[in-house]
Amino acid sequence: EDSVVTSVTAPVTPADSAFLRAARGESVPHTPVWFMRQAGRSLPEYLKLREGVGMLESCMDADLVTEITLQPVRRYGVDAAIFFSDIVLPLKAVGVDLDIKPGVGPVVASPVRTLADVEAIPDLVPEHVPYITAAVRQLVGELGPTPLIGFAGAPFTVASYLVEGGPSKEHAKTKAMMFGAPEVWDALMRKIAQISSAYLRVQVAAGASAVQLFDSWAGALTPGDYVSHVMPHSQRVLAEAGELGVPRIHFGVGTSSLLTLMGEAGADVVGVDWRTPLADGISRVGDRGVQGNLDPTLVFAPTEVMLDRAAEVIEAGRAAKGHIFNLGHGVIPSTNPDQLKKLTEFVQSYPLD
Ligand code: CP3
Repeated sequence: EDSVVTSVTAPVTPADSAFLRAARGESVPHTPVWFMRQAGRSLPEYLKLREGVGMLESCMDADLVTEITLQPVRRYGVDAAIFFSDIVLPLKAVGVDLDIKPGVGPVVASPVRTLADVEAIPDLVPEHVPYITAAVRQLVGELGPTPLIGFAGAPFTVASYLVEGGPSKEHAKTKAMMFGAPEVWDALMRKIAQISSAYLRVQVAAGASAVQLFDSWAGALTPGDYVSHVMPHSQRVLAEAGELGVPRIHFGVGTSSLLTLMGEAGADVVGVDWRTPLADGISRVGDRGVQGNLDPTLVFAPTEVMLDRAAEVIEAGRAAKGHIFNLGHGVIPSTNPDQLKKLTEFVQSYPLD
């Protein structure tokens, strides 16, 4: 009798991938790994492509977005791609006057301070972002079995850029509005929730397999203020993403005391930064998956030190309902890509049985 091949080891669709299996809390052939900010300034091929092209301009060019998103997938063989864009891109798309300044970040020409300022921002409709639909469709075709993560900024983190007018350490003006002008705050949070939700919907409709909601600066809030002023709005974005049928990852920095709430906001997987031991994060999120959480500066340590610490993260992650390996925050621009390549190979070949 002829022998017949009955098993295929490589996943053939994103749905079978280790990344989506972990996000759904299913068993995995290896711990899936990707890196926040895996595309970008740490890659020479990215810097070459971006020469003379502004950040927002590059986000609006479907061919550039496709190529930049694919670069780290090719170089590292990571288990997922993250869509190349920015959390403020949908604001730009609806007409907010803003720019992303090199080495600075998003800068808003006229910061939002009044109810009239909020009401002047249009809701986002798919027609605002045809290049996003085009880029996601093209990417999904090129990625084959590798899943694409769509993303958006959470209402608090996006509000911080709109109210401060740029990057901020204390988020003082933002929190002053939150504490002192509840009706303006509520309108602003509803507005951003609509925009982020619609932005995620466009990405999933075009083929993204999972979404990540970035509430990077939520760690500035007490749990009480998070519950009263922020969580309901993130909850709406995550609930609407849940209706799209894709796993939802919810991430913030310095969120040790918020991890339980960030899970309850409606996440399937909660991102844990490196300051919280992963085991603690796992016990705080309960019956959900976790993502993280190697200190991003460990790439500057000798390779064996980095890999020893990665092994600790993988071992801790075994107690989770699902574990997606990542850094505890984004890739630092001066990171040597060779270290991330070694880290990826180490995580993917780490024996789980
Ligand atoms: O690889 C990826 O992760 C996908 C692309 C991505 C970018 N921004 C591209 C980018 C993603 C997922 C983001 C999300 C984002 N943007 C967040 C949440 C994630 C986080 O790091 O907490 C935040 C807070 C922003 C706002 C923003 N945009 C900041 C703080 C900066 C960096 C400022 C700087 O230059 O140091 C940006 C600019 C930005 N977004 C760059 C990239 C590649 C650098 C732009 C450039 O090349 O000049």
